[in-house]
Amino acid sequence: MKLHEMSAVVTGGASGLGLATARQLAARGVSVVIVDLNESLGQEVARESGGAIRFAQGDVTNTDQMNAAFDLAESLGTLRALVHCAGVGGPVRLVDRDGEPGSLEKYESIIRTNLIGTFNVLRLAAARMARNEPVDGERGACVLTASIAAYEGQIGQIPYASAKAGIVGMTLVAARDLASRMIRVCTVAPGLFDTPILAKLPEEVRASLAASVPNPPRLGHADEYAMTALHILENPMLNGETIRLDGALRMAPR
Ligand SMILES: NC(=O)c1ccc[n+]([C@@H]2O[C@H](COP(=O)([O-])OP(=O)(O)OC[C@H]3O[C@@H](n4cnc5c(N)ncnc54)[C@H](O)[C@@H]3O)[C@@H](O)[C@H]2O)c1
Repeated sequence: MKLHEMSAVVTGGASGLGLATARQLAARGVSVVIVDLNESLGQEVARESGGAIRFAQGDVTNTDQMNAAFDLAESLGTLRALVHCAGVGGPVRLVDRDGEPGSLEKYESIIRTNLIGTFNVLRLAAARMARNEPVDGERGACVLTASIAAYEGQIGQIPYASAKAGIVGMTLVAARDLASRMIRVCTVAPGLFDTPILAKLPEEVRASLAASVPNPPRLGHADEYAMTALHILENPMLNGETIRLDGALRMAPR
């Protein structure tokens, strides 16, 4: 897919991986709408972009708010790209420190944002892309975001790992489902990336995480995720696949 004369929606685009992707897409001339819960950050990103990036405040699990964001994108150009980065983490153990069963509410909340949110955003984007005129045999392409926790979830990551494994599981079936509509779906499974989530950790913890990555022995840069997302959008042969982006890291149990 050629990245011009089109619009794109980037969820979680006010921060981290989504922000880097929104900026790279905007630099290529794509009309970008970022959707994020964080209103102040989202507005700041839009202001700094000088109009290249628009902000729609919204929750990926909220259909009305997501439709408003897709309406805004379609008012700027044909919606041909979705990059879905919004996601949250949060520790849950099966048996907590007091010997009580882990929190069902916390489990449900993380599944709702990460997994149900992904289904919601994907179905809404796909229904709109399906109405596009095909260009070079394509109506659109979608990039989802899992995590290597989908494969090697660490202790405490049970809701996060379950949700991300669900995203990996939906990738091929989504690509098959949307094949007749000429829409592709791929997922990126990042390892350890230097985004605001990790920036909060003490320097020695960041250094030890970085050293755990075989090669290159450092945290990933958000721009490296963005490069992958843009490549997926551009390469028509990539479909139904989850790409690990992790410097050969395989996570230990803790
Ligand atoms: N950074 C990493 O090392 C890493 C590793 C593996 C996977 N990931 C995944 O990559 C994605 C982006 O992570 P990041 O590191 O850029 O995080 P981040 O916290 O910097 O950005 C995530 C953004 O999503 C937004 N968001 C959260 N819930 C939302 C919701 N319900 N609706 C709309 N927006 C919402 C947040 O406000 C935030 O701006 C996440 O799905 C995360 O699980 C990150």
